[in-house]
Amino acid sequence: MKLQKLFARAVAIGMEADPRSKKSLEKMLKKQKDRYQKLEGKEKELFDQERTWNPYSDSRIIAGTGEEDVTHLMVGIDVETQEVLLADRLREKGTKIDCLLIHHPEGRALADLDKVMALQVDVLELVGVPVNHSEANLRPRMDKVWRAIHADNLFRTERAAELLGFPAFCCHTITDNLVWQFMEKTISNHEYDDLGELLKAILEIPEYAEYARKGNPPIIVNGGRSGRTGKIAATEFTGGTNGPEEFLESQSRAGVGTILTMHATEKTLEEAKKHHVNMVQCSHMASDSIGINLLLDILAKEEKRLTVTEASGFVRVKRKK
Ligand SMILES: [Fe+2]
Ligand SMILES: [Fe+2]
Repeated sequence: MKLQKLFARAVAIGMEADPRSKKSLEKMLKKQKDRYQKLEGKEKELFDQERTWNPYSDSRIIAGTGEEDVTHLMVGIDVETQEVLLADRLREKGTKIDCLLIHHPEGRALADLDKVMALQVDVLELVGVPVNHSEANLRPRMDKVWRAIHADNLFRTERAAELLGFPAFCCHTITDNLVWQFMEKTISNHEYDDLGELLKAILEIPEYAEYARKGNPPIIVNGGRSGRTGKIAATEFTGGTNGPEEFLESQSRAGVGTILTMHATEKTLEEAKKHHVNMVQCSHMASDSIGINLLLDILAKEEKRLTVTEASGFVRVKRKK
């Protein structure tokens, strides 16, 4: 399959799993199209046309034309220059690698990471937090992420990929949407006697079991094994990066008892303690692997020749369905 087609399918799959409705996503894209039409001169020239069809600012092709035929992917959760060199070594030794699939954004996908965070408002709305509260709390955090990333050396990975002749694309919120949806269905929507039983259920998922075997199990970072869970919400799986600490209080007030997260900051943890919200930190790399696996399962049905080299934290688990 051509890279451009593969990536466009990934975007469509991400949209199907999105916490926002299809209609609202289409409306958002249409607004971008209309905006582009009205621009002139330099502003028009600098407009990112990707925004007119892809709602995920942290997911895009960062190296290559899109015309490359892609069947053998090297998949990594963090792909930087060292992984690009690894891919080149493997290729030299005979492993077929046509393209790099990267989870954590690089290049422009990283530069625009803040813009995908608005989705967190919709994730929280689904557990009962008013959108106006979330929006007001989120705005300063988005600005902070924008400023922090702005000073980074953003284009190292894409340049390394270009120099060594690898097309590369990032799928970040696309696959985080898939794991968010999966965790809501598989874990949050069930009842457990206590947090211990909840942990056991999480460990039934093969990616978590694999990471647990290696010494990186899901852990309770706030609450006790015998404590009751209350309402469970996987509110920290998608939306670019960590939201503001104020989200803890909002969720507590909305009736959330236990938050499932991939990673919690110390400040968030302090807030969780203050507002008596249990937190389960599900292994980060295992969580990211689940999202990528769900995407690959769908893509593999459409591109029968698709093969994968696992790298940089990614473990391939195939699900039948
Ligand atoms: Fe992720
Ligand atoms: Fe991640």
